[in-house]
Amino acid sequence: MDLKSLIREVPDFPKPGISFKDITTLLKDGAALRYVVDQFDGHFRAARPDVIVGAESRGFILGAPLAYQLGVGFVLVRKPGKLPAAKERITYDLEYGQDALEIHVDAIQPGQKVVIVDDLLATGGTISATAELVKRLGGVIVGFAFIIELDALKGRDRLAGYDVLSLVHYDDEE
Ligand code: PRP
Ligand code: MG
Repeated sequence: MDLKSLIREVPDFPKPGISFKDITTLLKDGAALRYVVDQFDGHFRAARPDVIVGAESRGFILGAPLAYQLGVGFVLVRKPGKLPAAKERITYDLEYGQDALEIHVDAIQPGQKVVIVDDLLATGGTISATAELVKRLGGVIVGFAFIIELDALKGRDRLAGYDVLSLVHYDDEE
């Protein structure tokens, strides 16, 4: 399936010079959404993950159906202030400023095998912060699944040694 033809590129969003990769046009296509989840499933099923972790918010859209299909649970990594119970927090640097992500401390048991899902690998800031939270809880990361990878931003370098699946690649600088 030609996923790239279903991803809308919006010029100069959210700022001049950036070509935004809009997956809403892919997600509303039933066959394409199923294809993406099936590709993730086909790649990671043999590793027998115990749980799928998704990063708020677009990681939820893909991680939950993958977990359902594999018959395992889904864990949310959320933006600050959203999770109600005892949690672990990580702050990480953005181009300008900082951001943070949180996970419930009881979301993953030590030794559980985890696949981490998001829609897009850009700088890798979001996903490496997510991975660090999983590791702090003792999760064993099996790999990472994305629809899109922006190769020029080299996010993959921050996931060295792991199985990283990306279905569509772009060579944009931003
Ligand atoms: C986007 C995207 C990834 C992240 C990729 O999320 O969904 O999670 O950025 O960028 P990075 O590799 O440079 O960290 P965003 O923070 O825009 O939020 P959203 O998923 O809630 O839309
Ligand atoms: Mg996101």
